[in-house]
Amino acid sequence: MKCLVVGGAGYIGSHVTKKLCELGHEVVVFDNLRTGSEENVDSRAKLVEGNILNEEDLEKAFSGKVDCVFHFAALKAAGESMKKPEEYSKNNICGTISLLNAMLKHSVNKIVFSSSAAVYGSPKYLPIDEKHPLKPDNFYGYTKLAIEQVLEWYSKLKGLRYAALRYFNAAGNDSSGVLKVMEKNPANLMPVVMEVASGRREIVEVFGNDYDTNDGTGIRDYIHVDDLADAHVMALDYIVKKGNLVVNLGSEKGYSVLEVIKEAERVVGRKIPFRIVGRRKGDPAKVVASSRLAFELLGWKAKLGLKEMLETMWDVYK
Ligand code: WQD
Repeated sequence: MKCLVVGGAGYIGSHVTKKLCELGHEVVVFDNLRTGSEENVDSRAKLVEGNILNEEDLEKAFSGKVDCVFHFAALKAAGESMKKPEEYSKNNICGTISLLNAMLKHSVNKIVFSSSAAVYGSPKYLPIDEKHPLKPDNFYGYTKLAIEQVLEWYSKLKGLRYAALRYFNAAGNDSSGVLKVMEKNPANLMPVVMEVASGRREIVEVFGNDYDTNDGTGIRDYIHVDDLADAHVMALDYIVKKGNLVVNLGSEKGYSVLEVIKEAERVVGRKIPFRIVGRRKGDPAKVVASSRLAFELLGWKAKLGLKEMLETMWDVYK
């Protein structure tokens, strides 16, 4: 199929682009190259530079028959979204609606959308399944929920077929070692740990060790980006053949901050300095996914673990 991958120069998008090319799909990547970079884009894909808020740019992306869209382009820093909601509503909500309207105009009716566990807000129960209340506690999570609701309306009114994939904590790097994606000034734990391990950053600040967890530090469900890429391809097949899909993508395993640091020390073979500082506002103690529904509907489950996430990232950072 001819796939338009919006945000395909970014971390997840570049891994999905590579997977689609490997499977023989024709891929056009549309990206504004603000946070992503050109060298992340598989050489078999065509890159169209542009902004999803610009209708002329979008016309370039849709020139020639497009069969389906994968949409990764978004601002994703939960903390920043609470300071600059106008940036997040413009880029995430208005940007996606502009993309969806261009799809309708060009009679493209299939989209795989990168959603997030942030739509759930702090857990009412664990593991979090798709029936969990949708009460995002940061504006970033709200933008993802708002887009899911627009997708549902466009599906009802215009026959759009969509998959909303709710990632938990994406981590790791391309296991084949071809892609070497390093986020610019990351806020997420794993890239921060890698920056300290490789001397790009002085120390890991651990945001609180007084949570109700085994070692007092926050527990999260980390999922390898290669496993995520597999799920995106399976989700496309599902919406072509069956219908809409809203599923969690997680490993169902939780690791604390200190466990991640300890495993990283084993992988890199050296101590990783850290210091305990105050809690980060809005952080829940523990977040772990149920991915039973993704297994039932797609036959998908996470295959790669914490060790592989850290090893594949260390291959890039070292
Ligand atoms: C993980 C754990 C922190 C950095 C966010 C978004 C979520 C999704 C993934 C897009 C927590 C601790 C972190 C550091 C630390 N993004 N930590 N020191 O907050 O679980 O989720 O990224 O979809 O929507 O909210 O990820 O990597 O920031 O934090 O101690 O320097 O590591 O407290 O326990 P988070 P994270």
